[in-house]
Amino acid sequence: MPQRSWLFVPGDSEKKLGKAADTGADVIIVDLEDSVTFSNKDQARQMACAWLTEQRPVAQFGRWVRINALDSRLWRDDLIAVMPGAPDGIMLPKSAGPESIQTLAAELYELEGRYGIPTGSTRILALVSETAEAAISIPSYASAPLPRLQGLVWGGEDLSAAIGAARKYDADGRWTDAFRFVRTQTLLTAHAKGVLALDTLHADFADTAGLKRFAEEARADGFGGMLAIHPAQVPVINAAFTPSEEELSHARAIVAAFAAQPNAGTLQIDRRMIDRPHLVLAKRLLGIVD
Ligand code: COA
Ligand code: MG
Repeated sequence: MPQRSWLFVPGDSEKKLGKAADTGADVIIVDLEDSVTFSNKDQARQMACAWLTEQRPVAQFGRWVRINALDSRLWRDDLIAVMPGAPDGIMLPKSAGPESIQTLAAELYELEGRYGIPTGSTRILALVSETAEAAISIPSYASAPLPRLQGLVWGGEDLSAAIGAARKYDADGRWTDAFRFVRTQTLLTAHAKGVLALDTLHADFADTAGLKRFAEEARADGFGGMLAIHPAQVPVINAAFTPSEEELSHARAIVAAFAAQPNAGTLQIDRRMIDRPHLVLAKRLLGIVD
């Protein structure tokens, strides 16, 4: 199953939950955190579980839940409420480092046992950049044993509040340095760990052209997918993270050229030098595992 577009749906919105399955998103994240007010948490938990259960036999997409942060006193009750719906994974906001993942994993282990869910099957996506402390320790995920970890994702909203940054973008519309630093660390750490690198959301959901540019750059930089907040963002993200026919045929040409000359370290296609790293990238694009 592809994991290009990860769409947030507020857990207390019956209307949006009702639309979620038809958005074309690869993954739906039912949110119990920032988009749900404190007084609606209980209702959102019940609605999330009902939605997970209803979609379980039919869903062609990932069914995920974002719980509240580990320092909130809400997260355990979130899990107790949604685990009977056997979500494919849990997104953890304000993850402080590998210990946060291990704390969540221990709770998931208990609840999988309680609800008859295969042990270890519930995956985890960590939101790694929401405090300054977290943001400077992103590489610590790389060396810790985290068997449930599906991917790493970063976010700018909470971090900008945490560091008092009045802006996130420069005059050209590019991320400013602190956000670029975090984005790069997320990308490299995810690849070092062999898990999915996800880029953050584009908050201006009416800005299709801007989203297209961000999403295309994200894939070109090595991200495997991106967060979304509005259904209109889903097709743009899916298209940006799907290789074009031209890219695929170029990759096939590289693989074929090396297959024809197995002893060549370097060769040329259309008067351009091609060497082993190009072959690795081409195989990656084509999903060829050596
Ligand atoms: N999931 C499913 N359906 C959604 C949706 C979402 N995330 N966002 C909007 N829709 C639906 C709307 O209900 C609306 O349905 P309708 O045509 O039947 O009226 C349609 O898509 C168009 O929505 P629109 O009117 O353009 O936006 P809105 O004002 O209803 O909602 C937001 C705007 C930002 C509030 C909404 O997109 C949203 O809730 N996004 C997710 C927020 C979230 O979860 N944040 C947490 C992570 S940062
Ligand atoms: Mg947040």
